This record gives sequence, C-alpha cells and structure tokens, in this order.
Amino acid sequence: MDAAGVTRIAHLSDAHVLDPRPGRTRAGWSMRTRFLSLGRPLDAIGRRRKLGRALETARRVGAHHVVLSGDLTEIGSPGEYETFAEALHDSGIAPERITLVPGNHDLYSASDGWRWALEGPLAAFAATSAGEPGKVVEVAGVRFLPVDTTFHQPVTRSAGCMAGDGLEAIRRRAADPGLAGSPLVLVQHHPPFERGTSAWQWIDGLIGARSMMSLLESFRHLFVLHGHMHSIVDRALGCGMQRIFGTTAVVDDIDSPRVRLYDVRDGRVEAAGLVS
Ligand SMILES: [Fe+2]
Repeated sequence: MDAAGVTRIAHLSDAHVLDPRPGRTRAGWSMRTRFLSLGRPLDAIGRRRKLGRALETARRVGAHHVVLSGDLTEIGSPGEYETFAEALHDSGIAPERITLVPGNHDLYSASDGWRWALEGPLAAFAATSAGEPGKVVEVAGVRFLPVDTTFHQPVTRSAGCMAGDGLEAIRRRAADPGLAGSPLVLVQHHPPFERGTSAWQWIDGLIGARSMMSLLESFRHLFVLHGHMHSIVDRALGCGMQRIFGTTAVVDDIDSPRVRLYDVRDGRVEAAGLVS
C-alpha cells in the first residue's frame, strides 16, 4: 500500500511454461504437449523469457502484489513446475508478494500435480497461494481468496469446477461480517460466468458458474481476477461497477510483455491499465 492508501496489483496469467529438458524422461515432446500446444511454437526458452519479462515489468511499475491466475505450465509436469519456479525466484520479487492458483493445464499430468508442486518447487509460494477451500491471504492491505477451480481431466477437456465445499467456503467468507468492510479479491483460473453454449460450457466452462455469479450478485465486496480466456475481460455487476477482470496470456505476448494493473482504493478494485 502506498502513502495514499492505494494498493497496486499486477495480474499475469497463462504462462504455459514448458520444460526445456523434456528429453530427460522421454524422447522429445510428448503427444500430450504437442496436442496442448497446437498453434503455438514449442519454444521452452522463449516462453520462460516471456514470463521473466512480464515479472520484470510488474516489478518495475511498483506493484505491491503479483497474482498469476493459472495455466502456469503446459501439462503440469515436474520439469515444467521446476522451470516456472526458477523464473519466479529469478525475478527477485519476494515470494510473499506473489499469489499463484492452478489452471486446467497444471493438472493434466497428475491429479495431485498442484499439491506436489506446492510441497516441492513452489514451496516458497505456498503460504500466499491456493490451498484449502476458503483460504484468505492478506497482503499489502488487501484480502485475497486464491481459489483452485481445477480437477484432473483428459487434455480434450478444459473445464473448471466451483461447487460443493469450495463454493460453500467462499460463501462463508463472503458472508463473514469481519471481512465485509473491504474488497475480497478472488483469484481463480476460470471465469465465473457461463460460456456461450452448453457444449462449450461443458468442455471449457466452470461447473457451478451460475451459483458463483449469484454469489457475486449478493456480495458487492467480491471481485474476481481470472485467466483462461487469454484476453481482457471487464464485467460489471450490480450498480454497474466492474468486478470481474480477466487478462491476456503471457504465452501469447510477442514483442513486449503485457501486464494488467489494478488499484485497490476506497473499498473497490479499479482497472489501472495494461502496461508493457
Ligand atoms: Fe491458458
């Protein structure tokens, strides 16, 4: 938080980091990696460099906190998680100033891939990243709710899930009068709204989206920062205030990095531009 009481958040997403040494365990890129990277070059060094550039930009513009909203890796393999962690450590940003949540890609290799990463290469970031349902992380004067919307599924599906215990935990936090006085910033990979068609919703959408949206309608201090769409999203709710924000994919950056910024002030989260 700065002297004027403003907290600046930098939002990065969808780095889709590759393992530069995939041949350690098998010959070349797996079929799964090739399928998931269709249309994008399998340039492990280039993708890591893009992530490094984006983190450097977040640091340069003085962000108090950095969130990365999932699809951190391409297939969630150990080597990819290790490469991703190296980039974060190399950035020089203190681990407690970074919040990570997994995306569907981060769980394609193993159902416990995210838990494994938090106990292994991402251990330094575990305290401020998605863990048990309802976990609240308070940093730089802002309360974040890092949410895990992932489940293990075949690479032909890219859905998320926010139902049962996870949804109930958010509802409890949202209804907690002790947390109602300032914004509660949900960080999650999948957008909370339903997708255009029921087929697309099944393949790529968030299970429980309707309940999630009604929760957002009910509690006006809830804001969402999400990834997955690989594009800028601004959605207003209630009173016309924008409360759902999505951002571009680091993996899709070309000549320069793109980092989305928000300012938290006067009880709200405001979009503050896309810097490069
Ligand atoms: Fe993605």
